[in-house]
Amino acid sequence: MQAKRMAAERAAQLVKDGMAVGLGTGSTATLAIRALADRVAGGLRIRATATSERSAQMAMQWGIPLVSLEELERLDLTIDGADEVDPQWCLIKGGGGALLREKIVASASAQFIVIVDASKLVTRLGAFPLPVEVTPFGHVQTLRRLGALGCDAALREQEGQLYRTDNGHYIADCRFADGIAQPAELELRLNAIPGVVDNGLFVGMASRIIVGHEEGAEELVR
Ligand code: A5P
Repeated sequence: MQAKRMAAERAAQLVKDGMAVGLGTGSTATLAIRALADRVAGGLRIRATATSERSAQMAMQWGIPLVSLEELERLDLTIDGADEVDPQWCLIKGGGGALLREKIVASASAQFIVIVDASKLVTRLGAFPLPVEVTPFGHVQTLRRLGALGCDAALREQEGQLYRTDNGHYIADCRFADGIAQPAELELRLNAIPGVVDNGLFVGMASRIIVGHEEGAEELVR
């Protein structure tokens, strides 16, 4: 947790007065929301929009002014975690189920700051099952078509029930036995399947990647 905190605190320092900020989802993003809340308590003026109901709840509780994405004419910066980061800065996200809103918010931001600990750095994506958000309607058919792309697709469950995203959809966690060789191509192929709302591959989106360690944080350079 200390390494995640180091990355989160470094990212929170990038936020300047007057910025509109996207708040990510997950344990690392939560630490960034906490660090931002401390800065807001100290006088920093920002407006924020959240990528999940959970993050919105925390931001509200901790005193960060929230607005809907629709109310913002621009988003300066979004801070979010990731499940895997490859050497080309392609990401897998969605372990926390918030991938759709995360992708919408990140793509609306001038800067997308990714915060991770070193365990998230991989040489090839795919050891972490790729989350794919699918509509409940027709999901059996959709899962069959996901499987035809060479993965083992299983619907995510939580407490014995099918997991539902904040948008009311299911998540199919997709395991590719040999990992993901072509993330950019796969992202497009997945999203071309009717019933797929979006998938957790984030390609060409990260502006900066901050890696936390026990004793500090470093920024990756490309
Ligand atoms: C949430 O849907 C995810 O994209 C998270 O950003 C990702 O799962 C990383 O989570 P942690 O920061 O908890 O590792």
